Amino acid sequence: MTQPSLMEKIVSLCKRRGFVFPSSEIYGGFAATYDFGPMGFLLKKNIEKAWRRWNVEMREDVVEIEGAIFMHPRVWEASGHVGGFADVLVEDMVTHKRYRADHLIEEAGLLENAGGLSLQEIDDLIRSHGLRSPDGNPVSSAKKFNQLVKTHLGATEDDTTLVYLKGESCQNIYLNFKLVQETMRLKLPFGIAQIGKAFRNEITVKNFLFRTREFEQMDVQYFCRPADADRYYEEWKENRWKFYTEFMGFSAENVRWRQHSPEERAFYAKDAWDVQYRFGEIGFQEIEGIHHRSDYDLTQHQKFSGTDLSYLDQETGDRFIPYIVECSGGFNRLFLSAMFDAYREEGEGDKKRVYLAFKPSLAPYKAAVFPLLANKPQLVEKAKAIFSILDSRFSPIAWDDRGNIGKRYYAQDEIGTPWCVTVDFQTLEDGTVTVRDRDTAEQKRLPIKELTTFIQTGLSS
Ligand code: GAP
Repeated sequence: MTQPSLMEKIVSLCKRRGFVFPSSEIYGGFAATYDFGPMGFLLKKNIEKAWRRWNVEMREDVVEIEGAIFMHPRVWEASGHVGGFADVLVEDMVTHKRYRADHLIEEAGLLENAGGLSLQEIDDLIRSHGLRSPDGNPVSSAKKFNQLVKTHLGATEDDTTLVYLKGESCQNIYLNFKLVQETMRLKLPFGIAQIGKAFRNEITVKNFLFRTREFEQMDVQYFCRPADADRYYEEWKENRWKFYTEFMGFSAENVRWRQHSPEERAFYAKDAWDVQYRFGEIGFQEIEGIHHRSDYDLTQHQKFSGTDLSYLDQETGDRFIPYIVECSGGFNRLFLSAMFDAYREEGEGDKKRVYLAFKPSLAPYKAAVFPLLANKPQLVEKAKAIFSILDSRFSPIAWDDRGNIGKRYYAQDEIGTPWCVTVDFQTLEDGTVTVRDRDTAEQKRLPIKELTTFIQTGLSS
């Protein structure tokens, strides 16, 4: 019997424990869209909180906005998405299914990264190596396919009502650059952050949350003087490394850098690096891009909108278009890397357990409280009183009085609850409870009055 891959184990755990459900499952599902269940929702909020803490609150030079999904259609012409936001696809000549050409080439082991190839180069590789579709059929020549998701707003459905869903979330940061700078009285350098939705008509959809058609991007767009851009680019790269390996606590051996080749980079980008995370069997994959975007975005929007987006340096009197250093991560990939990084299995047979070793501040529940026996009112009453104390400090706290204690521990391990507090008969005599640690599975007795300090210390470590 083949062993499930780590990805398969995580997908199964995500469903079993209420982290992530396939969208529209009762209708048979809907490709590459997912819903966050109760545990996933709590983890999501904690990850967002951590991201916001590091990228906005702990800095004096970054403010955050939340922009709309719909924008003026001209935005996507100015940004280059209408003309150039395209995947290169080939079509199976028999089934007519379409595939991303770069993925076919990479999966066939011809190149590690086929992202920057021209149509001609792709066709040449396909012909010279006799590449076929996953169903074993010949494929067509390569064609470009625009990824923007379109809809219509208004009473008619013609070209005048065509709008695009955000193809990348950062665009309304650029549109609001001047308004933010003026209303917040900001001086360069400064950053505008946003956690915002993005939509892409992805053709290859696999690997769970890794590539979805609807996702959130977590951006910091850092505006600076042209002469300072190289320095800030390096600073932000260093910052991103620390964010993942120190602040999020991901194991450094699972994180690495990859520089884009000149062919892969957007023509305006001076440099581009990806932060990659090692997703088990599928290997290292991009979770965030750090892009040296020059003055391209503001220049384009100035040209297309006719609005002056230049910045006046009050000290020197110089007027110029700021350069942008972009850090753009995807929430779904951050969520998935948090799951991979935390996933642990230990023991064999009956003793086997799975637990999620989240940093305590990321865990959906900070602690769980159990009365040893649900049919003993004194235990339930005492446990409820402890639940209230902990909940008022560290909400949300889990409550469980079903089944035996072993099963309750097992369930809390699988959702990553750092500590389980059990109220038993000894509690009624001496005011102590059993506290069980998720990672070591060790239990110790603690006086009730020391519980909040104990949890607070654990959360801040
Ligand atoms: N504004 C820059 C930008 O959009 P990108 O490299 O296309 O750059 C940035 O996207 C991040 O968004 C990626 O590093 C990834 O984490 C996330 N992302 C992109 N496409 C995605 C998809 N289809 N599903 C999930 N996340 C995606």
